[in-house]
Amino acid sequence: MDNSKKTKRKILVTQALPYANAPLHLGHILEAVQTDIWTRFHNLNDNECLFFCADDTHGTPVMLKANEMGVKPEELIADVYKDHKSTYKLYDINFANFYSTHSDENKKFSEYIYECAKNNNLISKSSIEQYYDEEEKIFLSDRYIKGTCPKCGAEDQHGDNCGVCGASYDVLDVKNPVSILSNSTPIKKKSDHIFFDLPQKNKMLKDFLNKVNLQESIKNKLNEWLSDDLKKWDISRDAPYFGFKIPGEEDKYFYVWVDAPIGYLASISNWAKKNDLNMEDLWSEKSDYEIYHFIGKDIAYFHGLFWPALLSAANFKLPDGINVHGFLTINGEKMSKSKGTGILAKEFANITNPETLRYYFAAKLNNKVEDIDLNFEDYVQRINSDLVGKYLNIASRSASFLKKNKNILSTNVDDKVLNNLILMKHEVIKLYESKQYSKLIRVIMDLADKINKYINEETPWKKQHHEAVEISSTAMNAFFILSVYLNPVIPNITKKAFEFLNVEKISFDDVEKTKIKKINTYKPLLNRLEKIIIPEEEDMDNVNLINIDQFSAVDLRVAKIVKAEHVEGADKLLRLTLDVGDLGTRNVFAGIKSAYKPNELTDKHIVLVNNLEPRKMKFGVSEGMVLASSNDEGIYLVSPDSGAKPGMKVR
Ligand code: 2FM
Ligand code: ZN
Repeated sequence: MDNSKKTKRKILVTQALPYANAPLHLGHILEAVQTDIWTRFHNLNDNECLFFCADDTHGTPVMLKANEMGVKPEELIADVYKDHKSTYKLYDINFANFYSTHSDENKKFSEYIYECAKNNNLISKSSIEQYYDEEEKIFLSDRYIKGTCPKCGAEDQHGDNCGVCGASYDVLDVKNPVSILSNSTPIKKKSDHIFFDLPQKNKMLKDFLNKVNLQESIKNKLNEWLSDDLKKWDISRDAPYFGFKIPGEEDKYFYVWVDAPIGYLASISNWAKKNDLNMEDLWSEKSDYEIYHFIGKDIAYFHGLFWPALLSAANFKLPDGINVHGFLTINGEKMSKSKGTGILAKEFANITNPETLRYYFAAKLNNKVEDIDLNFEDYVQRINSDLVGKYLNIASRSASFLKKNKNILSTNVDDKVLNNLILMKHEVIKLYESKQYSKLIRVIMDLADKINKYINEETPWKKQHHEAVEISSTAMNAFFILSVYLNPVIPNITKKAFEFLNVEKISFDDVEKTKIKKINTYKPLLNRLEKIIIPEEEDMDNVNLINIDQFSAVDLRVAKIVKAEHVEGADKLLRLTLDVGDLGTRNVFAGIKSAYKPNELTDKHIVLVNNLEPRKMKFGVSEGMVLASSNDEGIYLVSPDSGAKPGMKVR
């Protein structure tokens, strides 16, 4: 295909906005990588493709998390914003703009769309009954309720469904409901809510689903929902809530799922302003940009129904496509913090080369809504075999022969070999466009295999100098073509490859147009990966920040062990009598019997948590806790440096 005759497509791309209440995990990176590869592919294919994102900052979880940390929600989301932005950068995610839903632009668009909906008679008000926590003074959404399943009687079931019998029910029917915020029994309380008339948009949504580029399985599901009785959508939440106030209402806020997707518009509009462009030209009724959303399967409902309904209420262009991906599992397990598989993206980038995860995800992703498994052994093996063993191997083995030619390549290359690669360009483009990345990677690695085979068969090490240089020049040009093909997947490694090959800006056309003339000294572009070892769960999870006041609430004191004794009937405990200076003596039971003999402990100085609630045990009352570190191998008491006296504060 001659790209010069091709019209340049203009494309806006978004991924789901991550919640601003926690760091990013690898599931976020899976989606970001899928989207980023698609964006980079289009730009490499001479289209204009812009990737937008933002933090999803509003809602109850953000508010509660901020309360728990003793900070304002604004402070929390500012910190999380920095953290998210820097984490995405580690994985080379190339946003045109990464913004925030807590922004003036977003408030403006949310109010505007709401006003339009109101003017189109899509808004109504009615009273609903919900659980209310009288201690915390807050209405409780389903996720903050636990209780007994009304169907099978299983206790401790969360929200509106039962994990034991699988039943779904109205949360108001739960027996013995408990607020998980205060552990108190909530009351039922009525309040007015604002509704968006989704049923009125039924026809429009059917037409939309007919046209939009979206996986069939998801389309079918959404059509089912449309044909079932579609209900009005509750778009308001009562105070206290962290979000935007609904104009003309007292203490009512837009539900976070209203202003979250509107955050796409906000991010684009913020970028437009910074670049002296008009939002109307980017995303409005008349814009000629194609619009694509990348999302996970859990939020298809919002993007396939609510979001187009909101857009249509205010006459915005509807998305051209929605790409839905499955969930990420790690070593075959659902990501879960308690199982140690909820790995944070930032931590993982410290353990391995983050770009290789891009490659691995690409090698696993297709355009279906299937779950993807990140298996550590397979990952290491895949990177070492594909990237190091096949792709980069071509450059490293050819560079040594070219070095003997002052790094200058021959123009007498084997065109047949190179044409085989060039001819695959259409296929490569097609596979990128249709997001069949795993097939794409297979195709590219087959080509790399062929080039390695070509080198093996041509045996440059047995040939005369000029012949060896010709073979290696052919291989090095092949390495260049493969680097172009792989560029959207591994932008950083291929950037270094282009520097090594002395090529500047590249596009897909360069596979035919550019011939490599001279290379630089070859340095390995990627080291072989070692076995992946994830630090213990406690290390991965230590993101629960506390402030200084919370820390100061713990009264730590130096104490001297005056007596240590065995406790009859206790396998693990020793009874310690502690001298805490002016504060007197304390009796503490400590689980250190496996590590210390009582007589080793007498006169030892340790650190005591002095204001821990006394705990009644079978053997007596424990009046505090001594600090110790431990792992599988042993228990180690924490001691102050010499000179510290009993009763002294530790801080
Ligand atoms: O599910 C989530 O993580 C949401 N924060 C996604 C929002 S996407 C968009 F609508 F903002
Ligand atoms: Zn049940």
